[in-house]
Amino acid sequence: MKKSFLLALALICEALASLELPAGAPRSIHEFRKRHPVQPWADDPGRRLVTIRPSANDKDDVSDAFLQGLRDANNGGTLFLPGGGTFVIGKPLDLTFLQDVQIRLDGEIKFTDDTPYWQKNAFRHPFQNSIMFWKWGGKNVRIFGDGVLNGNGQRWWNEFSGREILDSTNDYLRPILFYAENATGLDIRGIHFKDSPCWTTFFVRSKDISLTDVVCTAETKNATARPKNTDFFDSLNVERVRIERAWVNIGDDCFSPKSNATDLYVNTMYCNGTHGQSMGSIGQYAGEMSFIRNVHMENVWMLNGQHAARLKSWAGPDAGYGFIDNITFKNFWNGNNEYTAFIDSCYFNVSGHVLPKRLRLRRVLQIDTATCARYPSRVNITNITFENFSGTTSGKYGRAVGRLTCSPNAVCSNIRFKNFNVTSPCGGSPLVICDGIKGSIGTPCVSSTSNEAKSALASKCTARMASLPSATPW
Ligand SMILES: *[C@@H]1O[C@H](CO)[C@@H](O)[C@H](O)[C@H]1NC(C)=O
Ligand SMILES: *[C@@H]1O[C@H](CO)[C@@H](O)[C@H](O)[C@H]1NC(C)=O
Ligand SMILES: *[C@@H]1O[C@H](CO)[C@@H](O)[C@H](O)[C@H]1NC(C)=O
Ligand SMILES: *[C@@H]1O[C@H](CO)[C@@H](O)[C@H](O)[C@H]1NC(C)=O
Ligand SMILES: *[C@@H]1O[C@H](CO)[C@@H](O)[C@H](O)[C@H]1NC(C)=O
Ligand SMILES: *[C@@H]1O[C@H](CO)[C@@H](O)[C@H](O)[C@H]1NC(C)=O
Ligand SMILES: *[C@@H]1O[C@H](CO)[C@@H](O)[C@H](O)[C@H]1NC(C)=O
Ligand SMILES: *[C@@H]1O[C@H](CO)[C@@H](O)[C@H](O)[C@H]1NC(C)=O
Ligand SMILES: *[C@@H]1O[C@H](CO)[C@@H](O)[C@H](O)[C@H]1NC(C)=O
Ligand SMILES: *[C@@H]1O[C@H](CO)[C@@H](O)[C@H](O)[C@H]1NC(C)=O
Repeated sequence: MKKSFLLALALICEALASLELPAGAPRSIHEFRKRHPVQPWADDPGRRLVTIRPSANDKDDVSDAFLQGLRDANNGGTLFLPGGGTFVIGKPLDLTFLQDVQIRLDGEIKFTDDTPYWQKNAFRHPFQNSIMFWKWGGKNVRIFGDGVLNGNGQRWWNEFSGREILDSTNDYLRPILFYAENATGLDIRGIHFKDSPCWTTFFVRSKDISLTDVVCTAETKNATARPKNTDFFDSLNVERVRIERAWVNIGDDCFSPKSNATDLYVNTMYCNGTHGQSMGSIGQYAGEMSFIRNVHMENVWMLNGQHAARLKSWAGPDAGYGFIDNITFKNFWNGNNEYTAFIDSCYFNVSGHVLPKRLRLRRVLQIDTATCARYPSRVNITNITFENFSGTTSGKYGRAVGRLTCSPNAVCSNIRFKNFNVTSPCGGSPLVICDGIKGSIGTPCVSSTSNEAKSALASKCTARMASLPSATPW
């Protein structure tokens, strides 16, 4: 009795101690801003300055003035939206004509939440049935300042509640907060992306994108309506993306390039409550080849989320094929995540006919061994490094802290773990589970059918929330 009590106490103490963020890591948006102050471009006195009037109230739509302001500032000028002003946008805007323009946003751009209007009038993109408030595009566009882009998502989340985005019967589409297409040279600094109805950003067929010192949050005031699918970063067909210093507190993927991404660099990101730093999903559409290659991510703090470093590819009867190659995940600190390194080759279309009904009610991501074995993924996964991982998991998978599942229909080779030291709050030796990986990964790894894996998965426990101030100032 006494012994087990002491053991329990020791485990609790260990769990508590391990959930403190390492010294120096910011615990709030204030500390983040203090550590990584917004560094605006020096005002270029030669640039033409254009201003527009702010909205008088939440119904005062200034989209026409905003569009005209951008036309006037285009080709060498700056549109200035000063602090204290709110600029309400209530109409879709085509901003793909931009050339050498700056937007200095110290105020707030806020979208109306007339859900029926936007569902009828927003722009559309066929990928995962996306809609968007506006389209940005062109050459050399800078958006900077300590202002806010506010998607006003609460009503969207309330009305969407209970649905799944990819369900074939779902017709409740929600707009993406920031969408760019055919952009070359798009620089965003300082901005706070707030409360997007759906994905926060989506970059399509674009090059030389950078996001620096940005904050992204999606927080609901309604306990039964979560801000679902609010991914911070998504892309299709992009080259040369840099994300440096981002603070993200949302309810889906933190960083998630999708089909066809080359040369991505991420340095210094804090993600709370997310689904992870995810390569993909790719291989979704039948007959289509897709790839992600040459990605380097380092200095990442993952808290209270699903997974940390994740690669996901579609399986199923209508999936595509492709590869994920040359990806480095380095210096990952974990607090209260499920798997800290995760290769998922069984990402599914739940609404497809192959899944049992009981699963359709659950999340899109399901590992259904039988279906996966029948229609395995055709996405190769090569040259992946997980280096210097520390911290602890949530205990959801017991002592299993990483899981790599490769498809029998594809190659997984040169997967390397270096200095991987993640522990489980459940105590005991942490374990990595591997299936279908070619060659050694540089750390012990057992098959999911082994007794070690089964017993590690069975010793579940729960961890405390990783530390962030309970009342955040944003
Ligand atoms: C909260 O969301 C639910 C849907 O889950 C909705 O029925 C309810 O009206 C919302 N509450 C408020 C105060 O908007
Ligand atoms: C982007 O470029 C493609 C190919 O040139 C074109 O089909 C598409 O209409 C362009 N999109 C926009 C928003 O201009
Ligand atoms: C961090 O994420 C968790 C899980 O979503 C959430 O419960 C918690 O409120 C978040 N913390 C802050 C400070 O927002
Ligand atoms: C990705 O690239 C491949 C090969 O170039 C191409 O066939 C495919 O259509 C691209 N996918 C998308 C979504 O553009
Ligand atoms: C792998 O990706 C890195 C960038 O992350 C790049 O510098 C390197 O050249 C790539 N290697 C190959 C063989 O392409
Ligand atoms: C996957 O790897 C196999 C074996 O090396 C190769 O034949 C196939 O072309 C690769 N697939 C892609 C999309 O690169
Ligand atoms: C390992 O990562 C941690 C942060 O997670 C960092 O503080 C430490 O410096 C890294 N170690 C090395 C050798 O880079
Ligand atoms: C999911 O599968 C259904 C039925 O096979 C199909 O109609 C639908 O387009 C698929 N959706 C996606 C996003 O792949
Ligand atoms: C993986 O890395 C090796 C060594 O850098 C390289 O030869 C190979 O082309 C890379 N990609 C694949 C798909 O094997
Ligand atoms: C692994 O991490 C634990 C704490 O989480 C620490 O006590 C231990 O020294 C680390 N081991 C190595 C080899 O770094």
